[in-house]
Amino acid sequence: MITVTETAAMTAWSTARPGRIGFVPTMGFLHSGHVSLMQRLRPEVDRLVVSIFVNPLQFGPNEDLDRYPRDPEGDAAKCRAAGVDALFVPTDFYPSDFSTGVSVARLTEGLCGAKRPGHFDGVTTVVARLFGVTRCHVACFGEKDYQQLAVVRRMVRDLALPVEIVGAPLIRDHDGLALSSRNKYLTADDRPRALSLHHALFAMRDAREAGQTDVPALLALGRSVLQADREDYLQIVDADSLEPLQTVDRPARALVAAFVGQTRLIDNVAL
Ligand code: PAJ
Repeated sequence: MITVTETAAMTAWSTARPGRIGFVPTMGFLHSGHVSLMQRLRPEVDRLVVSIFVNPLQFGPNEDLDRYPRDPEGDAAKCRAAGVDALFVPTDFYPSDFSTGVSVARLTEGLCGAKRPGHFDGVTTVVARLFGVTRCHVACFGEKDYQQLAVVRRMVRDLALPVEIVGAPLIRDHDGLALSSRNKYLTADDRPRALSLHHALFAMRDAREAGQTDVPALLALGRSVLQADREDYLQIVDADSLEPLQTVDRPARALVAAFVGQTRLIDNVAL
């Protein structure tokens, strides 16, 4: 595995090699959720590229950009073990006069988009530039960030970018907590309240499977289980358009975002 820190060198590496390039963009502090994306692509590509870049454009003024967890050595070891060919850790990613933004409308209005203004513009802008820099043919994103996956798919379709997008299942910890780099912020005291996010979602899924289709009833059930310190949202939406539903009469997704202490957690489940 080679580590590339210069953006121009990353493009040179990709263009010098024949074959299909797979790409997994990350912000580092890697866990089994990230590794599952690498494993998903490894068998179907000739070269596998992973990026680690904590993208300032997607953080709000009061968010955790300055304290986002880092583990460069652990990350490199996990990538090497997953068969990554090139680890891209740019030190010069945005030109000093960078002037372009990519923005997806509508899909970014609700859910995390409503709570984190500008966040998805930062995500689509960095992902579009990463696709250009890495010259990847296929890229993998986790369903952990369900809205992000939908937004990236829409960007690629609308701009006709030559990149195939693969969605991968959400990976959970042994106790069911959705794996996230931000779980590092949780104390032992926080853990039970953090676990209530997936307990709420699973209760809603079980009720749906038992025949309940009324969304207000399902949300009331979820809220009776959720024990976070502050709810950002708990919603049931159309699985593709992300429009809120009143009745679960088509493929749907239940999504939650909530604070446990100072830590904002997200989770989601298919209904
Ligand atoms: P990051 O939070 O590091 O996540 C990188 C990728 O790993 C995303 O596609 C995310 O959905 C996936 N992922 C994280 N936790 C997961 C889990 N528990 N199960 C499955 N997949 C999981 O998402 C970002 O970084 C950034 O927004 C990025 C796309 C890199 C742009 O900056």
